[in-house]
Formats: sequence, C-alpha cells, structure tokens
Amino acid sequence: MSATTARRPVLTIDDLSVVYEVEQPVTAVKGASFELAAGEILGLAGESGCGKTTLAYAVNRLHKPPARIASGSIVFHDREGGDVDLLALADEELRAFRWSKLSMVFQGAMNALNPVISIRAQLEDVLVAHRPRMSKAERRERAADVLRRVGVDPSRLTSFPHELSGGMRQRVMIAMAMILEPQVMIMDEPTTALDVVVQRDILREIVRLRDELGFAVIFITHDLPLLLEISDRIAVMLRGEIVELRAADDMYRDPHHEYTRKLLGSFPSLSGSRGAFIRSGVDESPVADGAEARA
Ligand SMILES: Nc1ncnc2c1ncn2[C@@H]1O[C@H](COP(=O)(O)OP(=O)(O)OP(=O)(O)O)[C@@H](O)[C@H]1O
Ligand SMILES: [Mg+2]
Repeated sequence: MSATTARRPVLTIDDLSVVYEVEQPVTAVKGASFELAAGEILGLAGESGCGKTTLAYAVNRLHKPPARIASGSIVFHDREGGDVDLLALADEELRAFRWSKLSMVFQGAMNALNPVISIRAQLEDVLVAHRPRMSKAERRERAADVLRRVGVDPSRLTSFPHELSGGMRQRVMIAMAMILEPQVMIMDEPTTALDVVVQRDILREIVRLRDELGFAVIFITHDLPLLLEISDRIAVMLRGEIVELRAADDMYRDPHHEYTRKLLGSFPSLSGSRGAFIRSGVDESPVADGAEARA
C-alpha cells in the first residue's frame, strides 16, 4: 500500500505532549507528531508503559486529570466539514464529534459491555444518542447490518454479553465503534486477550472493512510483527517518544532504530512475505487428509 502518502490526511498530530501531574510528574507522551491518511492503517507499537494508551486517549480528548495535554495540536480534516481543531472543541461539540467522526475501541473493551443490557440495546443506544431522527426500524436494521459486517450473526442481537465468547464481545465493540461510520477508528489492543485463531479472524475482518468502507485506523499493540502484517505504516514508541515511523514494508526489510530491531527480534521470526497471511484472506489451517476427515 505504498500509495498511502498520496492520500489526503484525515488527522494531523503535531508536537503532542501529555503529562501526568502526579507528585513526580510523568511525561507519558513527548512531542508526538504524525499524520494519518484517509483509509490508512497506522500501527502504533511499543512495550508496556511507553504511552500508547495515553496518546490514544489524548487524541480522543478522553484523558482525565492527572493527565494533561502540555503542548501540541490535534487537527481532524473532516471529509464533510473541513478542518476541526480538536483541542478547541467545547464539551458539547466534542460529544457530537466522538463516535461519529472519530471512535475508539478501548483496551480491554470486551469487558466493558453492560452485562444487563442486550447487544441490540447497546448498539441502538449509540444511534439514539447521535442519530435522533432515525426511526426504530432503521435503528434495528443498522444494528443488524453492522453486526453482520463484523462477522456476528444478527440472531445474537437479543443476547446479553455473558452469553457471547470473548471474541464475539470484541467484535460487538468493533461494531459499536463502526456504527456511525466514523472516518477514524482508534483500536487499543483490540485482540490481545484473544486466542491466535480468533485474533487472526478479527484482524482480517478489520482490514477487509477498511478496504470496503474506507475509514482510517490507528491500531495499537505491543506486538510489532502483528502490525507488520496489517499496517500501511508503523510508528514505534519508546518511553513516550515516536522513535521511528515508516512504511511497514520498509520497517520489515530494514528497521532503522535499534529499539525497533529489538522489538522485531523479541518475537518468533515470521515466515513468508510480510502480511501474506492476513492480506490473502486464505485460510491456512491444514487440510485434513482423507483418513482424518473420515475419523
Ligand atoms: N493515572 C496515571 N498517573 C500517573 N502515571 C500514569 C497514569 N496512567 C499512566 N501513567 C504512566 O504513563 C505511562 C504510559 O502509560 P500507558 O498506559 O499510556 O502505556 P501503554 O503503552 O498503553 O502500556 P500498555 O502496553 O501496558 O497498555 C506509564 O509510564 C504509566 O506509568
Ligand atoms: Mg495501553
């Protein structure tokens, strides 16, 4: 996907710093600058505690004290409405903006669904809040459609969260983040808690949906090899700083920063070309031979 650089930007982050104002203040994000292109998957990698979630919260302006944005700017280049300075939005404007233009799948989100409310009601609640003119029938249809898109059968709409597997709950969270067709989705470790097979399925789904619907994704994980498979470009973060940001292909072939090399080296090596598995959409599960199939 080397054409990414030619696409228009949808988000520009410039010199963003976030400080936790505790007794010994911690600058968790230090002067981060990057541009997200429309329809791009930008991976954000780095070990635990390097500031990934802090950055994601700040971009959504979901950070709370003691976190404070100490410097920088965040500009959203809205396809419909022109440039929006996110740091200048009033609370009310921000509420309207979030979910509909820019949404987030939170770290550990699959445990964030309300246990006593059906999947349908939780999906429709977002529509009630943001699309008040939608009819009930339209809401039902939209909830079913978005669930279908993430690979969950709409018969699950009447289920409660505890009746779903972890993978399904995570798909529901992704459906919820997609339901208003945002231009940018930030996904913070959306598959980390899932087993490898389910993780692969969901990643493949995200790439396919991006291709189909054209939203951009900031995909956060500590798993750099995984990002190499799905991302157009990757930012590597070390102690609050983005130390390398390049096309995934280039990073795979020739990691520049010593820390990037370390991250790549700390995982089992990948076989085959970068991303062949996820992007091909081909199921690589071994084909059972005749004897096993009959057994
Ligand atoms: N409420 C807080 N008060 C003080 N420091 C905090 C607070 N929350 C986070 N930090 C610090 O900010 C830094 C970045 O944390 P953050 O959660 O953003 O990292 P992360 O990269 O998302 O880690 P992980 O991979 O474990 O999710 C860490 O050093 C952490 O200790
Ligand atoms: Mg985190």
